[in-house]
Amino acid sequence: MQLEHQPEIVVLQDPEAVAHFVVSEIIKQVKLKANSVLTIPTGKTPERTYELLVEAVQNGEVNFDKVTLRMLDEYACLERKDSRTFQNHLRRKLIDPINFPNDRFQTIDSWPEDDFPEEARRFENLIKRTPSDLTILGIGQNAHIGFNEPPARPTDRTRVVQLSDDTLRANKKDISKHGKRTPEFAITQGIGNILESKRIILMATGKSKADIIRQAVREAVSAHIPASYLRLHPKTIFFLDRAAASQL
Ligand code: GLP
Repeated sequence: MQLEHQPEIVVLQDPEAVAHFVVSEIIKQVKLKANSVLTIPTGKTPERTYELLVEAVQNGEVNFDKVTLRMLDEYACLERKDSRTFQNHLRRKLIDPINFPNDRFQTIDSWPEDDFPEEARRFENLIKRTPSDLTILGIGQNAHIGFNEPPARPTDRTRVVQLSDDTLRANKKDISKHGKRTPEFAITQGIGNILESKRIILMATGKSKADIIRQAVREAVSAHIPASYLRLHPKTIFFLDRAAASQL
């Protein structure tokens, strides 16, 4: 049996405060270690965080010249130019506005000409010797982190996963595009990769996340609540707004 830890839980007034706190944690991390490796998520939750981070980098409040940014997950089978890829999303929100160089941006590619299991292996080989210093996560409606859908195992590595009906439903607005195929698979860092990170931040905002946050924090650690595995890590912080924390 693995030792369980009580995660630090920081409850803040609103999503704006959550974004400010997460940015200040990122700045602290990079000031402590200039060549930090940061795993970064997509989804709506971190969007404001990226806006504030772009401002901080542009103002010279933090220097990203030695930082490595690493993707957490990606849909499989979208074209290189498809705006729905997480990679293009991150490029629009963070990478391009701060002129972050490609050679320090560790990406998972979605392009259809690739062999996905091979792409997952390539990424796993790229990251396995240098665990992230800080991994930032959102949480899905079914408690997935990255695209680690339930049931998940704490030893899972980067791999191809099939998206659950819950996730397809929750992400429908973002991934259904007229006349285009909806991705049914994804490549994700596994829970094992996430737990190797030196520190982890999970951010969640809004009432729709309240029940799943309660499960992740209060119910028994289990494969059916992938985010509950974060309690196996001694340095995890949950940054929540009041609505997301309302069932704790
Ligand atoms: C996607 C991503 C997750 C993200 C989740 C929640 O499914 N794979 O990494 O945490 O969406 O997204 P949102 O922040 O939009 O609620």
